[in-house]
Amino acid sequence: MLAHKIRSKSARVGVVGLGYVGLPLAVEYAAEGYNVVGIDLHEGKTARVNAGDSYVGDVPSSAMAPLVKSGHLKATTDFSVVADLDTINICVPTPLRKTKDPDMSYIVNACEEIAKYFHAGMLVILESTTYPGTTDELVRPILERNGLKAGEDFFLCFSPERVDPGNPKYQTKNIPKVVGGYTPACTEMGKLFYSQALENVVPVGSTQVAEMVKLLENTFRMINIGLANEIALMCDTMGINVWEVIDAAATKPFGFMPFYPGPGLGGHCIPIDPFYLSWKTKQAGVEARFIELAGYINGNMPHFIIEKVQAALNDVSKPVKGSKIHILGVAYKRDIDDVRESPALDIIHLLLRRGATVSYSDPYVPEISIDGGTLYAGGEAELTEADCVLIVTDHKAFDYKSLPQRAKLIVDTRNALKGVQAPHIVRL
Ligand SMILES: NC(=O)c1ccc[n+]([C@@H]2O[C@H](COP(=O)([O-])OP(=O)(O)OC[C@H]3O[C@@H](n4cnc5c(N)ncnc54)[C@H](O)[C@@H]3O)[C@@H](O)[C@H]2O)c1
Repeated sequence: MLAHKIRSKSARVGVVGLGYVGLPLAVEYAAEGYNVVGIDLHEGKTARVNAGDSYVGDVPSSAMAPLVKSGHLKATTDFSVVADLDTINICVPTPLRKTKDPDMSYIVNACEEIAKYFHAGMLVILESTTYPGTTDELVRPILERNGLKAGEDFFLCFSPERVDPGNPKYQTKNIPKVVGGYTPACTEMGKLFYSQALENVVPVGSTQVAEMVKLLENTFRMINIGLANEIALMCDTMGINVWEVIDAAATKPFGFMPFYPGPGLGGHCIPIDPFYLSWKTKQAGVEARFIELAGYINGNMPHFIIEKVQAALNDVSKPVKGSKIHILGVAYKRDIDDVRESPALDIIHLLLRRGATVSYSDPYVPEISIDGGTLYAGGEAELTEADCVLIVTDHKAFDYKSLPQRAKLIVDTRNALKGVQAPHIVRL
């Protein structure tokens, strides 16, 4: 019955959590001709979706508005619509608590609301990044509360989300989608569902395998960035240009993959996801030593950058205290507007604590909250007046060519000024 509805596009699709992950997915299915309802607790977001006004960079309003107009895409804060849905993808946040323990409250809250209106024959897929075992140990018992059994009365899967905001080449549609079910029949249904709208589906043997796939991918990235950062620290003590080293190493056609150092990790994934794994394995008495070590090195990069700024100012006989520092770029990575976990926030906090006057520019971020206050984006005047310009995020929109003429002193943490040599440019 459900398979027929999915194939004939008469299945009613629900997406819970309309953020960076959920909104592109909802739009993809609406564009395929399904009737899609997005559920989000944030009234401002549901109102904007219903007005055809996108707030996610990778989803243009021009693509979303016609889908809203034709009735294929709607958004609501009301979970009672679940009673009329055939499928649900859960894309709610999974942050870490201050203690680096996973905060499962968003998943639990979403599942408890879904459970109130849940019915037989549905397909539920968790997409939020989480520790291995979540779908089976946490989600399944909530959905089975009213007597329905996973694998018998409904289909249950986990599918890791791999979206890379701001990547024009790989988006929801053409990123291969891994899916693992509670039973083989669940996996089959998950595969059928995704293959309607996405180009390449990769079925795996269980929900736990699918959960672990995501953590391997992000742990791999976090640890390799940690290694690149450690190599950068070593090169710094020996006066070697680490960027040149990595670029040359990357000419090896096999057995090497370049990762780059930087001011620290940012975003909702790389700094966070590996700690789901270390938290889970700790319970089994296994220490995730690579993760802890890379976390330590990456977490210290903002401190190292402050020391670089201090040393650069020392060369012109100025202390950080009382200096004007202008930050170029505060988003956690190039060409996006997301500041979650951005190392720029740590760096600004540390500079303010040392008594610097801090300004910033970022074409994507008009304001940031810092130390209980708000800092608004500045412009050219702050940049030219600054004692030091610190490049934290290498947005393409910045004019790097003229920067050495406009800035008194530059500390470049991203090699944005690749190939440009001048006495007032200091590189990580
Ligand atoms: N952003 C990324 O690049 C990315 C990439 C891969 C995986 N992920 C993972 O996907 C998940 C979602 O991330 P995101 O970046 O889309 O987060 P987000 O914060 O952009 O969006 C989550 C949305 O869920 C809503 N929400 C929270 N609790 C809810 C509830 N109980 N019911 C309904 N809606 C609720 C929030 O209002 C928000 O709009 C996370 O687990 C994240 O780790 C994110």
